[in-house]
Amino acid sequence: MALGTALPATRVTNSDLETFLDTSDDWIASRTGIRERRLALPGETLLGLAARASVAALAAAGAGPETVDTVICSSSSPDETFPSLACRLQAELGLPHGAAFDVQAACSGAVYGLALAQSLILTGLSRRVLVVSAEIFSRLVDWTDRSTAVLFGDGAGAFLVGGPKEVGSQVLAIDLGADGSGATALGTQPFPITDDAASSRPAYTAAPRSLGRVITMNGREVFRFSTKILEQLVVRLAESAGVEVDQISLVVPHQANSRILATAAGRLNFPIERFISNLDRTGNTSSASIPLALAEGAAGGSCHQGDLVGLVAFGAGLTWGGLLLRWGETAVLVDDPGGLP
Ligand code: ACO
Repeated sequence: MALGTALPATRVTNSDLETFLDTSDDWIASRTGIRERRLALPGETLLGLAARASVAALAAAGAGPETVDTVICSSSSPDETFPSLACRLQAELGLPHGAAFDVQAACSGAVYGLALAQSLILTGLSRRVLVVSAEIFSRLVDWTDRSTAVLFGDGAGAFLVGGPKEVGSQVLAIDLGADGSGATALGTQPFPITDDAASSRPAYTAAPRSLGRVITMNGREVFRFSTKILEQLVVRLAESAGVEVDQISLVVPHQANSRILATAAGRLNFPIERFISNLDRTGNTSSASIPLALAEGAAGGSCHQGDLVGLVAFGAGLTWGGLLLRWGETAVLVDDPGGLP
């Protein structure tokens, strides 16, 4: 397995948001743990972010594009309904003409994609799969709505799974699910037509909205669901793999909110340090958040050979997905032009 990620260069702090939203660094940091996020400028595209993450994953693996026979993308913020982001990416990278398709599982997209990749490899339908999660949520938020606009960021992550000499991380357990009866907790609605102050806001709020819709969220309902499912998935992954929860060295949760992570860690009696988190610097990047956090943790030396590492996602749908890895050789490359020296 190899992992590549890409972030836009533009850093936007909570204080930057204070200039046009009735909010404060203190409110955002204390309620969410987020201090800054990266946002795409007009002209930066979802395809561009996805391609940068993919090139990083291929370079990390030292693999040529011709070795990829399937592309799976996840995004809740696509530029177009079709063709899929995966087809666009296949052409952009000059990949062979294998299968290419998108999965839509909101913030659970990366785990759904990895689970599908694993199934395709196990059944012999694919040998090497590129699983790419890319999001530009700054084009899906209503920049007049402080309750959602402060939460999200943009970015992409790509897993390269399988291949002729796969010696990397081994999948021990997978748990996917959905509860469509919770669909109204987190969704979208038509973009407000009248927004008189739009022209006075920063450039990162001004890109055209290809979907014409913006996020709506019942924050408390999402909080309740997220804390419960995060706890349950960690327990269920351990049970499926026949290990104790305490044997899981690291959990990479969907990076929604530090209070969600703290609450779930507390219920699991799990030291919070075992939850990898980078949301203070990236915000919530939806399906890209797990690869971005995992890459940062792995590049920073948090994952060791033989460690049990859980990836745990939850999101709109409502959807959820967990995957337990026994950590093995995993090359990681982070493409971050805006990173601090
Ligand atoms: N700045 C300042 N004040 C704000 C802001 C803001 N950005 N947003 C809301 N407020 C105000 C509200 O207007 C309200 O004011 P009022 O009391 O005068 O009416 C007050 O803060 C409290 O609002 P609540 O919505 O009740 O705030 P709450 O304490 O529930 O926190 C939050 C909101 C952080 C969204 C919380 O519900 C939460 O953590 N929910 C989880 C949802 C989440 O993390 N979603 C991420 C996306 S979903 C996903 O990835 C799966």
